[in-house]
Amino acid sequence: MAIYLDNAATTALDEEVIQEMLKYMREDYGNPSSTHSFGRKTRAAIDLGRRKVANHINAEPGEIIFTSGGTEADNMAILCSVDDLGVKHIITSSIEHHAVLYPIEKLAENGKIRMSLVDVDEKGHIKLDHLEELLQTKEKTLVSLLHANNEIGNIIPLKKVSELCYNYGAFLHADTVQTIAHYPIDVKELGIHFMTCAAHKFHGPKGVGFLYISNQVKVNPIMRGGGQERNMRAGTENVYGIMGLVKALDLAYTHLDEQVAYIKDLKFYMIKRLREEMPDVQFNGDAEGDSLYTVLNVALPETDKTEMLLFNLDIEGIATSGGSACSSGSNIGSHVIAALNVAKNRPVVRFSFSKFNTKEEIDFTISKLKMIYELPVVN
Ligand SMILES: Cc1ncc(COP(=O)(O)O)c(C=O)c1O
Repeated sequence: MAIYLDNAATTALDEEVIQEMLKYMREDYGNPSSTHSFGRKTRAAIDLGRRKVANHINAEPGEIIFTSGGTEADNMAILCSVDDLGVKHIITSSIEHHAVLYPIEKLAENGKIRMSLVDVDEKGHIKLDHLEELLQTKEKTLVSLLHANNEIGNIIPLKKVSELCYNYGAFLHADTVQTIAHYPIDVKELGIHFMTCAAHKFHGPKGVGFLYISNQVKVNPIMRGGGQERNMRAGTENVYGIMGLVKALDLAYTHLDEQVAYIKDLKFYMIKRLREEMPDVQFNGDAEGDSLYTVLNVALPETDKTEMLLFNLDIEGIATSGGSACSSGSNIGSHVIAALNVAKNRPVVRFSFSKFNTKEEIDFTISKLKMIYELPVVN
């Protein structure tokens, strides 16, 4: 039995997405910059795709720049804010994704900005009163925060954060990589300046995403060359990737309600079953509160098998993650868990769900966990 419970790392491609992409691999392979019919066809497809993406998040098509994924979009938002918007101060938190933390740290190291970290409480929620304190500065400020944390699932009150930013004249970048296609997002209502997306988090292809840049801010390209993406990101478009992203986003938003209900039920089923079957289990973050319905971060009971736990699950065919899988599978301790005061000897496992998972898979996973812990398993 192969069980994939690592959907926050990446998701399986939807069959309809594969079919859509194949069309642009086999037949419609023209370069969108070519003026002949082949090129015009893929140009029209991308233009339509951009309009669809924009519609889903209530943006204007011109506010969507396709990128190679979440990391590039995050880097671009941060670097452009400093280069083009005069940002001298960036507020972020210690539990951000490295695609945000590392570029900010580098800018601070090079003396280009001052970096401030907003406090997080024991559940992993950012402290809004501290954010407000940090915003009280004359320096042009960018706030860069995850909409939902990819390791523990915590969701920030984005509207409140954006109101604070507005009151203090700060720019706001939200890494929405784990929330786009999983929640309704309305950029006009939220009042965000930059937002990032990666298609592989919602059954689309890897290596493609987008950056939303509000019309209210004018920034320059980082990649220079051809005039693609209306001069904002040079390089021949990843046509089949973009069309896969568009299809995956369409599917996600068409079936949003039923998928939210289905996946949420799986998460709460696992919480219940773990409480019943594993003594002294704890949940990191705010699992039953403001949290992604796709992510469950668990601190299992202390064991001398901590080191081998993920490996043992893997041997049983169960794919999970010990923290973030975004650092090339290396299982170095998670900076997010480190910030949360979780007992050091407890193995931490992130289970993350998709529409392709079932309750049977969860039961099987829990029975294997009990075997690893040598707890009695009743079949
Ligand atoms: C919250 C978050 N931001 C950014 C990224 C990076 O996205 P990508 O893998 O598309 O570069 C990831 C995940 O991998 C993520 O979970």
